[in-house]
Amino acid sequence: MKKILVIHGPNLNLLGTREPGIYGHLTLAAINQKLKVVAKKHKVALVIKQSNHEGQIVDLIGGAKKNRFCAILINPAAYTHTSVAIRDAVAACGLAVVEVHLSNIYARESFRHKSLISPVASGTILGFGANSYVLGLAALVDLIPSK
Ligand code: DQA
Repeated sequence: MKKILVIHGPNLNLLGTREPGIYGHLTLAAINQKLKVVAKKHKVALVIKQSNHEGQIVDLIGGAKKNRFCAILINPAAYTHTSVAIRDAVAACGLAVVEVHLSNIYARESFRHKSLISPVASGTILGFGANSYVLGLAALVDLIPSK
């Protein structure tokens, strides 16, 4: 079965209680559960990681191909706007990468208007709450080479 790596960036472990007016009331576990349902439907396996640490996220992305993942779904969270290291890892990983955000970053503070990741991602889905992940995973499955 094809394996997809899901990476949740910093502070997403706090979903459920973190600024629910912006990020909604679903916990990360509930979002992961939704993703597992989508994965089952598309007959792909998910490995789901959350990290608050930039270097750890870089290592996950950098090791993805070697670890036989065929695509990556990532919400880089605050690192979206700051991390050249994560951008470079995405650019170098050689896999389809879909970037997702719960909120519409372009409708928020100006420092969130720039994503360093979007130019090197296969595509970006944002602003649909937990549904951004569901839509992102479905889009990513379509990008996986069939062999
Ligand atoms: C976020 C948007 C980022 O600006 C923010 O730092 C996050 C979450 C989102 O999913 O809407 O932590 O990536």
